[in-house]
Amino acid sequence: MKWSNRIRNISYAVREVVKEAKQLEKQGKNIIYLNIGDPIKYDFDTSEHLHNAVYNKKHITSYGDSLGLEQAREAIAKKSIRDGADVTKEDVVITSGGSEAINFCIGALMNPGENILIPKPDYPLYSFFSKFFGGEDNFYYLNEQNGWQPDVDNIRENVNEKTRAIVIINPNNPTGNVYSKKILQQVVDIAAEHNLIILSDETYDQIIFDGKKHIPMASIADDVPVITMNSMSKNYLVPGWRIGWMVMHDPENKAKTYLEGIKRMARARLSAVHHHQFGIAAGLEGTHDHITEMIKKLQNRRDITYQRLNKIDGISCVKPEAAFYAFPKIEMDIESDKKFIRDLLYQKGVLFVHGSGFGQKPGTKHFRVVFLAPPKILNKAFDKLEKFTGEINV
Ligand SMILES: Cc1ncc(COP(=O)(O)O)c(C=O)c1O
Repeated sequence: MKWSNRIRNISYAVREVVKEAKQLEKQGKNIIYLNIGDPIKYDFDTSEHLHNAVYNKKHITSYGDSLGLEQAREAIAKKSIRDGADVTKEDVVITSGGSEAINFCIGALMNPGENILIPKPDYPLYSFFSKFFGGEDNFYYLNEQNGWQPDVDNIRENVNEKTRAIVIINPNNPTGNVYSKKILQQVVDIAAEHNLIILSDETYDQIIFDGKKHIPMASIADDVPVITMNSMSKNYLVPGWRIGWMVMHDPENKAKTYLEGIKRMARARLSAVHHHQFGIAAGLEGTHDHITEMIKKLQNRRDITYQRLNKIDGISCVKPEAAFYAFPKIEMDIESDKKFIRDLLYQKGVLFVHGSGFGQKPGTKHFRVVFLAPPKILNKAFDKLEKFTGEINV
């Protein structure tokens, strides 16, 4: 039996590279996995108070409210207001991870043939759902020469009459950068000019290095609707709970029908995981000591990653400022980044994700490093990468 046309041209690089790695592992090869952003797979753990909020009570096995648990929606609205958004709990929808929020936001917005402006490189689920819902490809580049900030001129050039939204991923996966207020303001201006909504993915808003500040998109958008997507997965170290949300900031009531469309999608799938939603208020309103600890550990791993990568001949890397990703450039005479990553896996047993899986400027080659692993493992992986590139460069 055939698969649908809809699914034929879409893939999800982050997980797809794993198939071959698992096969090699079965054959007895040791693999260092630096491909997936799951902190729990490394030396990070869920805080005790979150465990207690969810597991110290009788397990709730019924469906939940389609839009999400009331007390959790309230806690999310309060966080959004602290972040400068103009919202109430009625503007919040709790989803099965941020992933489902991405699905709802695109599905309820875009007709076949329309488009949303997606960054390249992007977190691939945006391209995935855009294609899935029949959208035309449209994108803008992030500018590597400018610390991976969005290329605002390129956004402006690529808006057309079928464009419905601009996607902003800040802090960014896969580059690990944080956007400046000036750039964000320019994006808001373009959205206002063309009557677009901004889909702002702020999944990593609390994992920021060097004392830098994250600017929530809604806080600077006075006359433009912004949907902010966030999640418990990364900031609160519970990716397996599958709890995320979206919040609609719409001070001029331009997007009421759209929000109702999203709520329809939420009702149709009944509810997100009910029991785990009891962890949301505990997370957002409880102690954030784990964040301080996580940032300390990750900042050191970021430094190791940045230094080691830039010491390798033929590799250069912009310094990540947030999250746990680096997106180094390969400046060597190679066939493709996909083959580079595959050869590295087969020859040295290290798994990264090829840059083409996220999209990149034509003629450039990159790969994504997840630097969640402890220093010893990271250094081992970079030793192997250095050896591998040395063998190419001779
Ligand atoms: C930028 C970004 N958005 C959304 C997600 C989805 O995460 P989840 O579905 O676990 O909330 C991820 C996961 O890696 C991500 O990196």
